[in-house]
Amino acid sequence: MASPRIVHVSMECLPFSKVGGMADVVGSLPAALRELGASCRVMTPHYPQLHDGRIDAEIAAFDVWVGDSPHRVRLLEAGDDVLVDQPAAFDRPGVYDDPHSGEGFSDSLYRCLVLQQAARIAVRDGHVPADVVHCHDNHTGLLPVFLKDDGGPPSVFTIHNLAYQGRYGADEFWITGLSEDRFFGHSAFEFHGDLSLMKAGLSYADKITTVSPSYAEEILSPDFGHGLEGVLQHRRDDLCGILNGIDEDYWNPGRDPALPAHYSVAEREGKEACKRALCEEGGIEYRPGVPLIGMVSRVTHQKGLDLVGAILPHLLRREASIVLLGSGDAEILDLFRGARGRWPERVALFEGYNEALSHRVYAGSDIFMMPSRFEPCGLSQLYAMRYGAVPVVTSVGGLKDTVQAFEEEWKTGTGVRAHWATSDSFQGAVDYALDLYEKPKLFKRVQGNGMKLDFSWTRSAEQYLALYRGLMGESAPDPAPEAEPETGPGADA
Ligand code: ADP
Ligand code: GLC
Repeated sequence: MASPRIVHVSMECLPFSKVGGMADVVGSLPAALRELGASCRVMTPHYPQLHDGRIDAEIAAFDVWVGDSPHRVRLLEAGDDVLVDQPAAFDRPGVYDDPHSGEGFSDSLYRCLVLQQAARIAVRDGHVPADVVHCHDNHTGLLPVFLKDDGGPPSVFTIHNLAYQGRYGADEFWITGLSEDRFFGHSAFEFHGDLSLMKAGLSYADKITTVSPSYAEEILSPDFGHGLEGVLQHRRDDLCGILNGIDEDYWNPGRDPALPAHYSVAEREGKEACKRALCEEGGIEYRPGVPLIGMVSRVTHQKGLDLVGAILPHLLRREASIVLLGSGDAEILDLFRGARGRWPERVALFEGYNEALSHRVYAGSDIFMMPSRFEPCGLSQLYAMRYGAVPVVTSVGGLKDTVQAFEEEWKTGTGVRAHWATSDSFQGAVDYALDLYEKPKLFKRVQGNGMKLDFSWTRSAEQYLALYRGLMGESAPDPAPEAEPETGPGADA
């Protein structure tokens, strides 16, 4: 079988940029696909202010049209990846306006169009040959439409987060260069009178994936579908959930350069040194034998940290110490600022984004909290388990698929799951984790169970490869699926 040429297109990709987990995924999945024999490249913007790494060569330069003006784009080769250079669009201090809310710049449609038009031309003109184009999240939702229009290769569209839909006013539609008659209607990608890039991707991609099997089910319902459940139900046969993996070399407590000490499931002493160092770094008291509970997160409604804010006094009464690394919603952060002011020796708060520090929080924490209201997959709980921080999570999406509830009788399981995303339910789950902490033998067991799990990409990469091969062997379905009734106003960014 010929080696398939896969081109991933994404607004974020490590090591060039990162806002959330999508950057980790697009940065690490290609290597796993290459191991399986695929040829794989990522096309992503060149953000000179975020990354000044090596550029190997210029592959091509051409104009892309956005609205009625041409924009000069250069394709730059950086290792296996292709950076789309267009300073007016991408020479900015962040990927999005507010790095942790995902809110766009006022010209974000123009910026995503530069990326998508560049990818379209790169593939069409053979600068970056592709058998399958794999598009990630709403910012690339028009690319499947362009590819269909050009008679180009089939596309896969991955939903990393349905809440961010890339919704723009109807008055902006014209800059896409697409025919309004054909594409601006219910059967195409109009959504409640607006243009929705997410709906475009969902309607026109040949296959749709999302990042966990449970989220793939959940988004078919109004509770999790953000108004697009009708469209998704219509495409149900082309939708599947493939669980995210992690880069196990990069996330390895045995040799992570960001950590002050190293450890493994067999030799765990180094973890205590990481805890002590984290307490020092956070300006809180180091108390051996007392649990340290960590969080690393975008601070948004999705992540449910307000629920933790509500139970902080209870957790502190139970003697725990708390560490949060995050940025985002000021009101939620205020809950933690208040707690830090009141219990300065017990509550550490790092505001902002800090990659190396995130590793130290996973390593230094005994317990890791993730009370998400919805979670397409979640990588933080995977990193936490790998670093021996026992996760306490809500039973949603990828959290449900990756954190197995600990069963004392059988000593199986890797964490604790709250049934509901409410502070009461979550408090009960954290209480159970704190009880476990008081039984060191059991706690060591649940911690070890998580550290031993295999979260490598291998299995999921095989599933993606099977999907690509299927597409290469069959003709793409007709464009413009039938209209489906939309329900609810949908969330947006
Ligand atoms: P999401 O993509 O929804 O934010 P994930 O759990 O999939 O959630 O991925 C979040 C990623 O972003 C993880 O790699 C996590 O360590 C990282 N992260 C989140 N907030 C911060 C922060 N303030 N500083 C450093 N890393 C962060
Ligand atoms: C999104 C989701 C998160 C997922 C990540 C990578 O940001 O919120 O759950 O892990 O994408 O797929």
